[in-house]
Amino acid sequence: MTTRSKIIGTGSYLPERIMTNAELAETVDTSDQWIIERTGIRQRHIAADGETTASIAYQAALRALEAAKLDVSDIDLIVLATATPDNTFPSTATKVQALLGMHHGAAFDVQAVCSGFIFALSIADNFIKAGQAERVLVIGAETFSRILDWEDRATCVLFGDGSGAVVVEKSAGEGGVLSTHLHSDGRYGDLLYVDGGPSTTQTVGHLRMSGREVFRHAVVNLANVVDEALAANNYQRSDIDWLVPHQANLRILTGTARKLGLSTDQVVITVDKHANTSAASIPLALDVAVRDGRIQQGQLVLMEAMGGGFTWGAALLRW
Ligand code: ACO
Repeated sequence: MTTRSKIIGTGSYLPERIMTNAELAETVDTSDQWIIERTGIRQRHIAADGETTASIAYQAALRALEAAKLDVSDIDLIVLATATPDNTFPSTATKVQALLGMHHGAAFDVQAVCSGFIFALSIADNFIKAGQAERVLVIGAETFSRILDWEDRATCVLFGDGSGAVVVEKSAGEGGVLSTHLHSDGRYGDLLYVDGGPSTTQTVGHLRMSGREVFRHAVVNLANVVDEALAANNYQRSDIDWLVPHQANLRILTGTARKLGLSTDQVVITVDKHANTSAASIPLALDVAVRDGRIQQGQLVLMEAMGGGFTWGAALLRW
């Protein structure tokens, strides 16, 4: 029987403070109507003073562990995807490890921006298949509010803060992660980047994006990687039960669904309430759809994401 990794618990956390489009329109030249029409975003959550990527990641991790009915002593490894770490080092993953009171195993961060969760899940899956871990806590957590230029209307309206986590366990059964597919192409780094960093400016910097160019690449790369994932498992587009995509823009989500021949009802959509939470968006959306009962055992679930780098990827799972 094939060794696979299986998601056995999900959890997520959103900061309490909600910022509406109307509130943003008080500080930058934008409108609720423009933001909804171009992006589908209605509101976003913003981390409170004192809340950090590690602290919100910890909350999601606790909920995922509770859902999996496991204790931190059962976990071998923490893989945390973020582009907004608490500090340059130590890693945010080790900070979460300490908050959880976990003094064994290993913890490290993964940086693939909005594709980070797919990359982290792929790493967990490979550690499990290689026999190097049995149970992995995979987390996506971000505080993008801290790297936004709040005077740039083209970017500050798009992002929000949040975290999501899953517990992945070694399994010999039928279900689980069927395959993961990762890509990157560094030639496009200057289309979506942060204009600061320890080795360049010694500042944190702000997010900069050529929105239209990113959109164009996203649609093509996502369609290609989805087909790659289906072909690798001999599935057709019509076999997909649920699409759990990275939540960047409603137009990208519905465009991808149309290309796949899926109805919008088969796409888990949270971008309206969460905005783009980068590496947190897929585990957040997954947790919503697992907890409200949409995703059921035996169903075929496809996750996909594209982010700065560029990076992009997909994961196909039998739930
Ligand atoms: N409110 C009002 N007007 C705005 C705003 C705003 N918030 N932002 C930009 N505009 C204006 C622009 O200045 C421009 O005005 P101009 O024509 O006078 O120059 C006009 O609106 C059109 O701007 P575009 O950038 O061409 O608008 P577009 O239709 O492409 O929508 C958007 C912009 C929403 C950013 C879109 O390009 C997009 O979604 N791109 C993908 C971005 C994305 O998804 N990034 C994340 C993926 S990767 C990741 O998640 C990190």
